[in-house]
Amino acid sequence: MMVSMSILSSSPEATFAVGQEIGRRLLGQRGLVYLTGDIGAGKTAISKGIVSGYGYPGRVTSPTFSLVNRYVHGDKCIFHMDLYRLSDADELFEIGFEEMAAAPHPVLIEWPEILNDEGFEPILVIDLARTEDESLRKITLSSKDERLIAGLDAFVT
Ligand SMILES: Nc1ncnc2c1ncn2[C@@H]1O[C@H](COP(=O)(O)OP(=O)(O)O)[C@@H](O)[C@H]1O
Ligand SMILES: [Mg+2]
Repeated sequence: MMVSMSILSSSPEATFAVGQEIGRRLLGQRGLVYLTGDIGAGKTAISKGIVSGYGYPGRVTSPTFSLVNRYVHGDKCIFHMDLYRLSDADELFEIGFEEMAAAPHPVLIEWPEILNDEGFEPILVIDLARTEDESLRKITLSSKDERLIAGLDAFVT
């Protein structure tokens, strides 16, 4: 059964903090995490928090141009992709996407829509939406694994 929860974040810092808690919960997990929402909604902003919470201490940059960034720290690894510039899923399979998806690490994916008919099932979907307030975002989390989501509202300020 799919569980869903929406929370409101009033600043980039609050979004980062929610991301950090999600990152901590992804430790030891594998699978795809989809990040949906318009340009500027905060997909990269929350990803920075997730990578930080996962334990990577360095700088995290947008994978808009690199397509995929790989963050390795000790024995931990997490991938961060942005598929916006791809025109079809074949391009993705050519760069080894299936190996990444099957690896024992989480894979964060901005603009995952291109994967819609490819038979993958994300472990978590994070949708970000702007609101009328310039600094307020509605963050909706959906997963079959309640542990990834439960109580996350306590991490927003
Ligand atoms: N509550 C908020 N959460 C996340 N980002 C916010 C928030 N309020 C304002 N912002 C701003 O929105 C922008 C989000 O950009 P980014 O994360 O790159 O979006 P995306 O990756 O979805 O295109 C950043 O400039 C960030 O400072
Ligand atoms: Mg982005």
